[in-house]
Amino acid sequence: MPMSTASPVDRIPVGPNLSMFDPVFLGLDEFGTPVYTPLAYRRLLIAGEPDGGKSSLINTATAHIALCRDARPVLFDGKLVELGPWEDCADEFVGADMDHAITTLRRLQTVMNNRYAWLRAHGRRKLTRTDGVKAIACIFDEIALYATVLGTKVQQDEFITLFRDLVARGRAAAMPVIAATQRPSIDIIPKSLRDLFGYRAAFRCTSSGSSDIILGDGWSGAGFCATTIKPTMPGVCYLIAEGGVPTLMKVAYLTDDDISTLADYAAWSRTGHRTTSPAPPASVSADVFAA
Ligand SMILES: Nc1ncnc2c1ncn2[C@@H]1O[C@H](COP(=O)(O)OP(=O)(O)O)[C@@H](O)[C@H]1O
Ligand SMILES: [Mg+2]
Repeated sequence: MPMSTASPVDRIPVGPNLSMFDPVFLGLDEFGTPVYTPLAYRRLLIAGEPDGGKSSLINTATAHIALCRDARPVLFDGKLVELGPWEDCADEFVGADMDHAITTLRRLQTVMNNRYAWLRAHGRRKLTRTDGVKAIACIFDEIALYATVLGTKVQQDEFITLFRDLVARGRAAAMPVIAATQRPSIDIIPKSLRDLFGYRAAFRCTSSGSSDIILGDGWSGAGFCATTIKPTMPGVCYLIAEGGVPTLMKVAYLTDDDISTLADYAAWSRTGHRTTSPAPPASVSADVFAA
C-alpha cells in the first residue's frame, strides 16, 4: 500500500522493549541508590494516609507495565482520574461500578484457572518470559472502595473472595497484583491477606499500628515506622521486600504531563492509535451534584 494512503494502524509503531519480567524502577533509597523491584511474580501492597504518594507509586509501576511488550494491564480505579490516562493501554478499565468489578475479577479467575490447567498439562509450575504468554497485571487504586463502599454486602464479599484468590494464586500464572488503600486497617488488610503480598510500601501513617499492619508486626518497635514520615514528604515510603528489612525510599514522580505523554506513546505502540480523552457530556458541567 502506498504510504500516502496508509492509516496509522497499517504501520508498525516503534515498540517499547521493556519486559514485565524485568525489574521495575520505583525510585531512590535514602542513599540515592535506584530501587528496582521485580513484579512479574510479585504482589505489591501500597498503603498509607491520603496524599502520601500511593497513586504516584501506582502510576510509576503502571507506566512500566504499559510500556512492556509482554504485559496486559487490567485497571481498577473508582476515582477514574488516577489510572484513567492508561485506559487505552488496558485490556479492561473498571471505574466505580461493582458489577463491572466483579465480572472482571471472575474473568480473571477463569484465565488464571486456564493458565494453571496449561501449566499442569505441560508438567510445569510457572509461566516464564519464554512461554510467549503475556503477564496480566491487575492494578487497584483503592481496594477499600470495592471492599466496603460500593455495591451490596454480598457483592463486597464476592469482590473480597475473588480479589484474595487473584492475590493468592496469580503469582505462577504471571498475573501480578498491585493494590493501594488509604485504609491500613485490619478489616481491609487482614494479616492473612497482607502476608500474600511479597512487597509492601507504607506511606505516611498516623499510628504505628497502621504502619505495622502494612510492613508486618514488630517493625515499628524495631525503628521502621511510617509515622516518622512527615506530611511535607509526599512520595516517601518504607518498602519491604520478601524477607528483607524495610527500605526508606522516595518514589519516582510522574507529572500529569509525563503521564499523558507516556500513556499516549504506550497506547500508540500497542494499538497504533493515540490515547482518546473522553469528551464531557454536553449537558453536564464538572460541578453538578445531583443527577
Ligand atoms: N514522589 C513524589 N515526589 C514529589 N511529590 C509527590 C510524590 N508523590 C506524591 N507527591 C505529591 O503528593 C500529592 C499526593 O500524592 P498521591 O500519589 O495522589 O497521594 P495518595 O494517592 O496517597 O493520596 C501529589 O499530588 C504530589 O503533589
Ligand atoms: Mg491516591
